[in-house]
Amino acid sequence: MPAATISRMGNTQVQQLEIHGGKVLNGTVEISGSKNGSLPILFASILAEEPVTLRNVPPLSDIHTTLKILSELGLSVESQGEVDADGLTIRIAAAGELEATAPYDMVRRMRASICCLGPLLARQGRARVSLPGGCAIGDRPVDLHLKGLRALGADIRIEHGYIEARADRLVGATTYLSGPFGPTVLGTANVMMAASRAEGVTTIEGAACEPEIRGLARFLQALGVPVEGAGTHQVRIEGQPNLRGADFTMPPDRIEAGTYILTGALAGGEIRVEGCDPSELRSLFDVLERMGVPHEIGEDYVIVTGVPRLKPVDVATLPFPGFPTDLQAQLMAVLTRAQGIGLITEKVYPDRFMHVAELNRLGARIRKEGPTAIIDGGHRLSGADVMASDLRASASLVMAGLIAEGTTRIHRIYHLDRGYVNMEKKLNRLGAKIERIHDESGV
Ligand code: EPZ
Repeated sequence: MPAATISRMGNTQVQQLEIHGGKVLNGTVEISGSKNGSLPILFASILAEEPVTLRNVPPLSDIHTTLKILSELGLSVESQGEVDADGLTIRIAAAGELEATAPYDMVRRMRASICCLGPLLARQGRARVSLPGGCAIGDRPVDLHLKGLRALGADIRIEHGYIEARADRLVGATTYLSGPFGPTVLGTANVMMAASRAEGVTTIEGAACEPEIRGLARFLQALGVPVEGAGTHQVRIEGQPNLRGADFTMPPDRIEAGTYILTGALAGGEIRVEGCDPSELRSLFDVLERMGVPHEIGEDYVIVTGVPRLKPVDVATLPFPGFPTDLQAQLMAVLTRAQGIGLITEKVYPDRFMHVAELNRLGARIRKEGPTAIIDGGHRLSGADVMASDLRASASLVMAGLIAEGTTRIHRIYHLDRGYVNMEKKLNRLGAKIERIHDESGV
């Protein structure tokens, strides 16, 4: 991969966004390739004997971190395309013996690095991956990942903050992967990847149904692995001794699409969200209907029209096809504008509310009561300095800044750059006024 591309994707300079609020947004926004779809697929490339070509990979810092991990594990990684372009083409080849350790320094930066555990174990017979540890959206255990891999015959111990996994051979089995908060997306992905090279058939019961799991299944099929049932709670994988290469295009990012659809409800005008898959966004359309937001659903686009008065709603986040936790913070920004009391109950990550205090700094009136946020909407927001705490919280602050009077400065926007391709450029094309500037405060 050209060094310039790598360093620009992993740009660590301290920057902030300065948003001059009050502009009505109109026009078309193009959706990039899916971040959460790409991450497990990039790690699944470890399984292939032959080179893999991945297209429409979004140029994001989480992708950069993943490519760095793959390089350090000994895979050859080449990237074509500019960081400013919408999608990269990545070629990955895993010839010969690989490193089996993913160190703390890598994994702490991106929790999805846990996804190298299954493929490394399946290919190398061993893997040593740092335990991810805490995270701004709450407690995020990996017990279900380990349970699934143990069911395939892996011997797994936790030593000195590392998951030490070994298996002379993995053998297909039936395992149940739901926990107290429902199925696990990356846990399902990890076990699917390990099962792809196990002897015999693996059945995952209580599997995650998220579109990212269907995307991974399509990729594993392209590598020659029979996979059935992806997108349902029962996934069946017939392991293969050798996996071929593939040429695969990443699907569009449903959360990015949802973010711009909610931005249309908040600050449109009329926004056309182009190049998305509306079949993945039904729960969002239900919420739009209940809020009284007009929207037109096409085959690969959605047009959303802002209205002067929004009705408040009562929404719970749930695993797919329920309303996504990854759109919870953005919906909260919209509900600050609704006339009356809105409720959001977080059922996937009950502590994912770091944005509440920051939205309140902008004048929102939100109270947290256990896993529920009570949003007293319809009060004027006014620009202020706020701090991004995680990826989706950052997006909600940008959205609130769009309707706040005066100037909002968002610090720590490296969170935003983990998951949104050129967000301020895309919004400026719709008529927003956002500048990315060096953050003198250095936070
Ligand atoms: C994925 O994380 C996404 N990340 C998250 O998106 C998303 O919020 C989440 O799924 C839920 O949709 C990526 O795809 C890279 P989970 P994942 O395992 O798979 C509990 C974003 O903003 N659990 O499905 O790690 C867990 O604590 C990110 O883009 C266990 O109890 O989430 C949670 O309550 C943030 N034990 C629930 O399950 C386990 O072993 C669902 O988590 C694993 C999870």
